[in-house]
Amino acid sequence: AGPRVVVVGSTNVDYVTRVARRPDVGETVAGEDLTVLPGGKGANQAVAAARSGAAVTFVGAVGDDVHGTMLLEALIRDGIDVTGVHRVPGASGSAVIVVGPDGDNSIIIIAGANAKVDDNLIMEESAQIGGASVCVLQGELSSAATTRAALSAAAAGVRVVLNLAPVIELPTEVLRVADPLVVNGHEAAHLLGLSAADVERDPGAAATRLHARGPLSVVITLGAEGSVVLDQDGVHSVPARVVDAVDSTGAGDAFVGALAESLAGNQALLSASTYATAYAALAVTRRGAQASYPTRFEAEEFVRTQVVKK
Ligand code: RIB
Ligand code: NA
Repeated sequence: AGPRVVVVGSTNVDYVTRVARRPDVGETVAGEDLTVLPGGKGANQAVAAARSGAAVTFVGAVGDDVHGTMLLEALIRDGIDVTGVHRVPGASGSAVIVVGPDGDNSIIIIAGANAKVDDNLIMEESAQIGGASVCVLQGELSSAATTRAALSAAAAGVRVVLNLAPVIELPTEVLRVADPLVVNGHEAAHLLGLSAADVERDPGAAATRLHARGPLSVVITLGAEGSVVLDQDGVHSVPARVVDAVDSTGAGDAFVGALAESLAGNQALLSASTYATAYAALAVTRRGAQASYPTRFEAEEFVRTQVVKK
C-alpha cells in the first residue's frame, strides 16, 4: 500500500449564507441565500488530502440524523475510508457560517457528534492511526481525544500534523510531537499572547517563538500574505498566489489537507507548503469549503498559469 493519511477530526453540516454587511448587535440583515454543505475542519482536510491524491482514512463521529448520512456520503464520494467513523445517537456537528462581501467568514460551531469522540473511541481506532504515514489533527475535537490520537500516532512512528484551529489547550508532550504545528496569524497570536498585527509584522519571529514551545517544525499561514515555514534549516517565507477571493471558508483546511498529502508522499515541508499554498488559493476562488477544493491536477495547472505575488 502507498502512503496513507489518517485524519482524526470533526465533521459538520455547514449552513452558509452571504451578506453584504455583518449585522450589528440588535440589527437584522438579509442573507443572499442559504446553502447546506458538508464541512467540519477534519472532514475538509480529509477531502483536500484525497483530492490531492492521498489514500485517506477518517476517524471521527457523525450523528444518527439525516445529516450524518450526508456527511458520510461526502467522505465516501472522495474515496475516503470511513470504517473509523462512528455513528452516534443524536445530532451531527454543525456550523453556522456568514460569508462577507470580500469572501471573509465568521463561523459558529455546534459540536454535536464531534463531542462524542472520546479517548475510548480513539483507542478503538488505534490500528487505523498506527497504519498511516501522516496523522492530521485539529482543534474541533476534545483535548483528551486529540491528545490520545497524537500520542498514539507518535508512538507508532506516524508523523503528526497538528493544526491548532481553533486553539485548544493541549499538554506540552502533544506540542512536542507536532511536525509541523500549523496555525494562522490569529491562532499564532493567541498562542503567544500577541496581537494579530504583531504576528503579521514579524511572522518569522512568531514562528521561532512557537518553535520554542516544542513542535519539531512550524507553519504559519497568512492568507493573502502567503506563509512562513520553520524547518531544520531555519525560517522560510512562501509567497501567496494572487486570486480573486470569493469564499475563504475552509481555506486553512485545504492547506492542511494538501500539505499532509505531500508530506505523506515524502516531500520536504517547504515544498509541501508551496503546493498547499497554491491548493488553498484556488479553493478561495470558489464557494464553499469541500465544495471548492480542486484536484492535484487542477492545482498544478493553476500554478503553471498564475503569477506569484511579490
Ligand atoms: O474551516 C472551515 C470549517 O470550520 C467549516 O466547514 C465549519 O464546519 C467549521 O468547522
Ligand atoms: Na472556498
